Amino acid sequence: MGRGLLEGRVALVTGASQGIGEGIAREYAAEGAMVALIARNEENLCRVAAEIETAGGKAGVYAFDITDYDRYRAAVDDILKRWGHIDILVNNAAVVWYGTILEEADSIERWRRTMAVNLEATWYGSKLVAPHMAKQQWGRIISISSIQAMTPSGGAGAYCATKGGIISITKSMAVELAPYNILCNVIAPGFIRTPMSIIDGVDETTTDWFLNYYVGMRKIPLARAGLPEDVAGTAVFLASDYCRYLTGQVIVVDGGLSSTF
Ligand SMILES: NC(=O)c1ccc[n+]([C@@H]2O[C@H](COP(=O)([O-])OP(=O)(O)OC[C@H]3O[C@@H](n4cnc5c(N)ncnc54)[C@H](O)[C@@H]3O)[C@@H](O)[C@H]2O)c1
Repeated sequence: MGRGLLEGRVALVTGASQGIGEGIAREYAAEGAMVALIARNEENLCRVAAEIETAGGKAGVYAFDITDYDRYRAAVDDILKRWGHIDILVNNAAVVWYGTILEEADSIERWRRTMAVNLEATWYGSKLVAPHMAKQQWGRIISISSIQAMTPSGGAGAYCATKGGIISITKSMAVELAPYNILCNVIAPGFIRTPMSIIDGVDETTTDWFLNYYVGMRKIPLARAGLPEDVAGTAVFLASDYCRYLTGQVIVVDGGLSSTF
């Protein structure tokens, strides 16, 4: 039930096959954007695209690994040919592995892979679209970090480092791209119920611990886990013309969690 806030805009959303990326893609399409859905799982992407189109929206499927930069560049070229311009990039795709620095699970391979997917591809994707946005003097680059960047709970050091890096590169891009009216901001979600919140087969937002402490004791003041659409609403605002004097910022979407101690 959109209000045309993104009418005529072309948006790229990475990690759009499920979770928060899917939620953002659906909301963007509902607001009138043409959405390029990027992730590795073609079947899931086709399902999301079909549902968007059934609802009257426009979507294109681009199935590749975002660390394959030849494929990423080819996709950007194709999107430009197909829709003529690129207005919005959402750097959302990410991976997480669990293990403390003392454990074998926290290996150099996992560190490098986490850096590549979460941080390097955020930088590279932004680098690919920024020149096109600069030419038209309008652009929005929205990157998804996490409250783990500011307040890590431990056990996912590489992930936290990438999420902190996303904030730093966004602030740098915000300064560099402001003369071209390209606004760069970060969303830092708290606990959002998605496939990523399933750890060892259990959705952490459904455990007794979560329900007692975060919900029952209102450690999360809004007393529930977030949903992808809660993040998507913020992502719509940041991509819209209502966001025009705001760049280089981190918007925390966590139900108030980080306001408590
Ligand atoms: N779920 C949460 O509680 C939570 C909290 C804070 C931040 N976040 C952040 O929100 C974003 C989305 O998370 P989510 O919970 O929806 O995760 P998810 O695991 O459900 O979805 C991740 C998406 O990224 C895609 N992806 C992963 N690696 C990729 C690659 N190499 N190439 C292309 N696509 C790739 C996956 O296919 C999937 O579509 C991430 O940046 C995550 O760090 C999530």
